[in-house]
Amino acid sequence: MDREHFSNDITVIMAMAGSAIGLGNIWRFPYMAGQNGGAAFIVIYIFCAVLLALPIFLSEASIGKYTQSGTFGAIEKLLPGSKLRWLGMITVISPLIILSYYSVVGGWSIKYLYVSLAGGFGEDVASEYGRLVSSPVIPLVCHTLFLLLTSGVVLAGVKSGIERFNKISIPVLFVLIVIIAVYSLTLPGSAAGVEYLLKPDFSNVGPKTFIYAMGQSFFSLSLGVGTVLTYSSYMKKDAGLMKTGFGTAFFDLLFALIAGFAIMPAVFAAGIEPGSGPGLIFETLPYIFVKMGITLPFLSRLISILFFLTIVVAALTSSISMLETGVAYLNEEKGFSRKKAVTVLFALTWTLGALCSLSFGPLSGVKIFGLNIFSFCDALVSNFFMVMGALLFVYLAGWRMDEGQMRKETGAAYFFIRYVSPFVIFAIFLSNLL
Ligand code: PHE
Repeated sequence: MDREHFSNDITVIMAMAGSAIGLGNIWRFPYMAGQNGGAAFIVIYIFCAVLLALPIFLSEASIGKYTQSGTFGAIEKLLPGSKLRWLGMITVISPLIILSYYSVVGGWSIKYLYVSLAGGFGEDVASEYGRLVSSPVIPLVCHTLFLLLTSGVVLAGVKSGIERFNKISIPVLFVLIVIIAVYSLTLPGSAAGVEYLLKPDFSNVGPKTFIYAMGQSFFSLSLGVGTVLTYSSYMKKDAGLMKTGFGTAFFDLLFALIAGFAIMPAVFAAGIEPGSGPGLIFETLPYIFVKMGITLPFLSRLISILFFLTIVVAALTSSISMLETGVAYLNEEKGFSRKKAVTVLFALTWTLGALCSLSFGPLSGVKIFGLNIFSFCDALVSNFFMVMGALLFVYLAGWRMDEGQMRKETGAAYFFIRYVSPFVIFAIFLSNLL
């Protein structure tokens, strides 16, 4: 069977950036930067991205590019007959777990987009969020819709589905977020938001800051879960890895920064405390839209529509990469057709996602290590599976791949891949365990 490939370096970067740019950029980065030293955090983040995240990215990408296989198959080729290869199954499972809960949030975004289109938010918008997530039916319907959209793109294939969707979406996402940021920055009182994001504050910087920055760079660049590997396996032999790595990291950070300028100035202009996570986009922002709507009803509706559209599309470009990782596995290792693979994985992730969704309502009593199902899935993957996957990838790239080839492809980063990254990642793993 002929392997499908992305057309050129630009479309590879667009696809990788699509996977990278997502909810992590919108709801975690702005808050994290603001809380952990502003510009100081951003500098530390860039430091972590270049010295730690990039070598992992290059490891995953070179494994994909040279084995021309999806994630488990690639690992099997590098560890033939070794029991260690079974660890590779983590990288098949991780993106599917993320997809399950990510799709729930994608669903909420669809619901908020719908509300924005249908007439805007009501006065009691903040409590509306709590009511939405704890109600059993609507979130499930929206989760189903989000997963169907994701499946539709993946079903269309690497070139006509994934490549085409990202090639259009990434420029659109940048245009949208810039429009929102320009608007947000012109609001009276917005300067305090800029200060919150940028003012270097070293009193908030400590060892923890590095751990946060590393965790954020892992999640944001989609590392350690086989998505980078899978997309790289659709690279042609002459595609440049360094260019892809730097390009992806650059666009990912740029988007996170602009998202910060889209969100925080508006939050401060409205005179409220910035929150993080879901609360920031599903409570704080709708509240601002309602407040703005009193004086500027049309503009407020428009910005609200554009904003939730941005979130839905950004989430989709990420969820597609998660589903594709599983589809490539079933297709190559188990002989499933693309259609059958998508159908099976739809059923699996829909079910786990439904449990995650219900864990805010009817199943809120179910706790695993003190966490509800949704948070447990997130913690399990973000704190453990991603880190284990990353460790496996740097080990394979640094010690199992052809050294000459790796040096040629990754240049100075090779030293990090081989000697530095494994220890740093292991240290992160231990610190998460404790
Ligand atoms: N990078 C995505 C984000 O920032 C999330 C993601 C994680 C995507 C892992 C694919 C794989 O939201």
